[in-house]
Amino acid sequence: MHFSICLFTLLAGLLPAALAVVLADPTLMINGVTFPTRAHWMRQANEALSEISGSPCPFAAFGTVIVNHTASDTGELICMGVNENSKTGNPSLHGEMSAIKNCTAILTDPHGKYRMTASEAEDAFADLTLYTNAESCPMCASAIRWAGFREYVYGTSIDTLIQKGWGQIRMPSIQIFEASFDLPTQSRLMGNILINETDPYFLWQYDPTYPCPHGCSRTSDGTSCEASFL
Ligand SMILES: *[C@@H]1O[C@H](CO)[C@@H](O)[C@H](O)[C@H]1NC(C)=O
Ligand SMILES: *[C@@H]1O[C@H](CO)[C@@H](O)[C@H](O)[C@H]1NC(C)=O
Ligand SMILES: *[C@@H]1O[C@H](CO)[C@@H](O)[C@H](O)[C@H]1NC(C)=O
Ligand SMILES: [Zn+2]
Repeated sequence: MHFSICLFTLLAGLLPAALAVVLADPTLMINGVTFPTRAHWMRQANEALSEISGSPCPFAAFGTVIVNHTASDTGELICMGVNENSKTGNPSLHGEMSAIKNCTAILTDPHGKYRMTASEAEDAFADLTLYTNAESCPMCASAIRWAGFREYVYGTSIDTLIQKGWGQIRMPSIQIFEASFDLPTQSRLMGNILINETDPYFLWQYDPTYPCPHGCSRTSDGTSCEASFL
């Protein structure tokens, strides 16, 4: 016991304590892409909820878009995806997993725009950026690293999700990225992008006093939000 406490104290003294949690200022122009462009794509990740699920306020409000920024700095949409656990009964279909699955289907569609072979599709991810409106869980962060994405950009943090009542595995994406150095690819992580617009999608579920996302209103018993029909 004494030994482990001493060892911990020793290691703590050697580690650069602050460095692990430092992320770049979300408004910077990283890899030649400006903040207004990042904000545009993060808004599209929010919009994917309405586009795919038909409502801006599904309970599991996790949306993803996958974009090619190497074609142009403004970027080209390849595919989108949202959390489909309750729709499909497949508990692994978080928004990021749905989007990766969707992009693979779109890239390899023999009648589609890309008509890639499986191996070309696997390689294509090295050019792409994944935007998700909330920080990926360890499963999705690992899938993002396995896919070899060029960039990974998230909005609302896991810390915020936990503070606001969500059940989450308490491991930030940066930890998955830090542990992925044996993989053949590098991936740039950017966090907390446009949280003033992504957070509201996640703050109403466990707080009956929080306003519903735009386009939704409280159900009559006040416990949930639903799309308002205009
Ligand atoms: C992304 O853009 C690059 C550069 O234009 C292009 O070579 C590549 O095929 C594009 N990838 C996809 C999946 O469209
Ligand atoms: C796949 O992506 C396309 C293009 O963004 C989108 O129109 C479609 O709804 C997505 N499908 C699923 C199942 O997410
Ligand atoms: C959210 O903040 C960004 C700057 O970080 C700003 O450009 C954007 O307009 C803000 N959104 C709203 C709805 O105020
Ligand atoms: Zn996930």
